[in-house]
Amino acid sequence: MPVPIIIDCDPGHDDALAIMLAAGDPAVDLLAVTTVAGNQTLDKTTLNARRVCTVAGITDVPVAAGCDRPLVQPLGVAADVHGATGLDGPMFPAPTVDAVPEHAVDLIHRLLAEHPEPVTLVPTAPLTNIALLLRRYPEDASRIREIVLMGGSTERGNRTPAAEFNILTDPEAADIVFRSGVPVTMCGLNVTHQALATPEVVARFVALGTPLGRICADLLTFFGSTYRELYGFSSPPLHDPVAVARVIDPGLVHCVDAHVDVELHGRYTRGATVVDLHRSTGRPANARVAVTLETSLFWDRLVAAVAVLGERAHGPASS
Ligand code: RIB
Ligand code: CA
Repeated sequence: MPVPIIIDCDPGHDDALAIMLAAGDPAVDLLAVTTVAGNQTLDKTTLNARRVCTVAGITDVPVAAGCDRPLVQPLGVAADVHGATGLDGPMFPAPTVDAVPEHAVDLIHRLLAEHPEPVTLVPTAPLTNIALLLRRYPEDASRIREIVLMGGSTERGNRTPAAEFNILTDPEAADIVFRSGVPVTMCGLNVTHQALATPEVVARFVALGTPLGRICADLLTFFGSTYRELYGFSSPPLHDPVAVARVIDPGLVHCVDAHVDVELHGRYTRGATVVDLHRSTGRPANARVAVTLETSLFWDRLVAAVAVLGERAHGPASS
């Protein structure tokens, strides 16, 4: 039986591929796409989610906008990574998929109540919506199967030397989630940096011969240009689909149990995920922490998902 999931995202190039993986892989049932401010402002991340759903033919999944700023600190976007639109690179047609009027938190709450079994939440963005859900509807914790998030790191950060972008953007929200008691799996930079979209990977999307495959290649090409310029990466790490892959097949993403704290007060370390990998604090684990990606199988699943969507949306590939 496919695992019911909701993606909470801030498209964002890697969020876009995460949405496609969730919609195209039969192992998961994508119930909704909710958006939050992060990579770009909420209006842009929501427009981008609508664009992705339009070009991927994802027309039966509600898209709902959530919080337009973090719980406490001001919003800081990542236009240097994702561009002024938040999804620079490809030219997108006007979206035909609209957003529903419900706030993301209320939509998630309603779907959790209506679904016959607990639902997996897959946040690939700052955790503002998820934290607000847990505060506004505490009874929902028992209706969440687990939270499998992209964020944090067992090592260095990317937005500061200590902090990863999703956690740094809203550290208070992340702290609420890690302390919530809901089962949490953290897919941090230490594992997502194993998902490098090399030229060979990009060529696999082009080789699909569909407009969607071309759009994915263009997304990866732009993402690669900013990662090369900002971080000196030869190929960009495709962070967000790793969290979806963990739900699709836990054997794709190997994890260890560990205690994770979110640093809220450090002058130089605010937003860091402090991961007790060697149980030196003696505190019980509150998360599964991803450490190894089955990289080749990961790319196979992602390319296959885009192939399915592309043929469903545009018909058989051109020769
Ligand atoms: O640090 C990487 C994360 O921040 C990814 O989710 C990316 O989309 C940005 O949101
Ligand atoms: Ca993201």
